[in-house]
Amino acid sequence: MAEQPILAFRDVNLQYGDTWALRNVSLVLRPGETRIILGAAGSGKTCLLKAAIGLVHVDGGEISLFGEDVTRDRETDLFALRSRAGFVFQEGGLFDSLSVGENVEYPLLNQRLSGHQNNSGSERSIEDRVREALRFVELERTFDKFPSEISGGMRRRVGIARAIVTEPPLVLYDSPTAGLDPITANTIMALIAKERDVRNSASLIVTHRYQDGEIMDKFFYDAARQELVPLGECADTDPKRNRTRFIVMKEGQVVFFGTRLELEACDDLYVKRFVHHED
Ligand SMILES: Nc1ncnc2c1ncn2[C@@H]1O[C@H](COP(=O)(O)OP(=O)(O)OP(=O)(O)O)[C@@H](O)[C@H]1O
Ligand SMILES: [Mg+2]
Repeated sequence: MAEQPILAFRDVNLQYGDTWALRNVSLVLRPGETRIILGAAGSGKTCLLKAAIGLVHVDGGEISLFGEDVTRDRETDLFALRSRAGFVFQEGGLFDSLSVGENVEYPLLNQRLSGHQNNSGSERSIEDRVREALRFVELERTFDKFPSEISGGMRRRVGIARAIVTEPPLVLYDSPTAGLDPITANTIMALIAKERDVRNSASLIVTHRYQDGEIMDKFFYDAARQELVPLGECADTDPKRNRTRFIVMKEGQVVFFGTRLELEACDDLYVKRFVHHED
C-alpha cells in the first residue's frame, strides 16, 4: 500500500484579478519525495508553496496537508498545522533584530505555543536542538551573531536551520540558491539533500537553477560515508531510490510533470528554457 500523502493539491485555483497565480494545479507528495519546481518569474511557484501551508487562501480546489484540509481550516488551526512544516522563504526572511540562535529557536517556541511538538525532540532542551540544527548547516559558531554580521550564503544556511529545527516531515524551499555563487549554491543543495535523506522528509523546492534539481535527482546522502554519493544507473526506474520529479509552471499551470530524463527529452519550447540553463 502506498504511504499516505503528506501534501495533496486537487484542481487548485488562485486568481489575482485577471492573473492566474494557480490554475487547476494538482500534485501529491509522499515521505522522502522531492519535487523541483521550475518556471518563469510570476508563473506561480511562490504561490504554490504558500498555498500548501495556507499562507494564501485559494479560490477553488482542495489542499490537504498532513491529512487535514488547508482550504477549510480556520486561521487558528492553520497556525498549528503550519508549525509542522518547514519553510525557507524566497527573501530569506530572517529577523534582523534577533541573533542567529534566536532565529533558529523561533519555530520551536512557536510549536510549543501551538501545542504541537515532535516526540523525537521533546526531551531535548531547546538550546540543544538549536545548536544541533546549526551544526547540521555547519554554522554552530554563528550562534550569537546577528544576520547582518554573516554572509548571504550563511544567512541562507541559517534559514535552512530554522526550517528544519523542528524536524518537519515536509520542507518547502523557495529559491534557496538564488543570488549565490555556484559553490555556495552546491553546498546548500547538498544540505537540502542530506536533510531529505537523513530523515526521509518530503521536499518541495522552487529554483531557477537547473543544477539544483540535478543534485537532488542524481545524488543521495550516504549517512555511513557522511557525504553525497551518486545514485546508481538504475535510479530512474527504481521508485524506491529515485523519488525526484520535476514540475514546470507557466501562468499558474503545471505544464510539465515527470522525471529528469523525461524533462530533458521534452520538446516543448517553454519547458526547454528551464533545462541546462546556466545562471
Ligand atoms: N498578493 C498578490 N497580489 C496580486 N498579485 C499577486 C500576489 N501574489 C502573487 N501575485 C501574482 O501571482 C502570480 C504568481 O506569483 P508568484 O509570486 O507565485 O510567482 P513566482 O513564480 O514565485 O515568481 P518569481 O520567480 O519571480 O519568484 C504573479 O503574476 C504575481 O504577480
Ligand atoms: Mg517566487
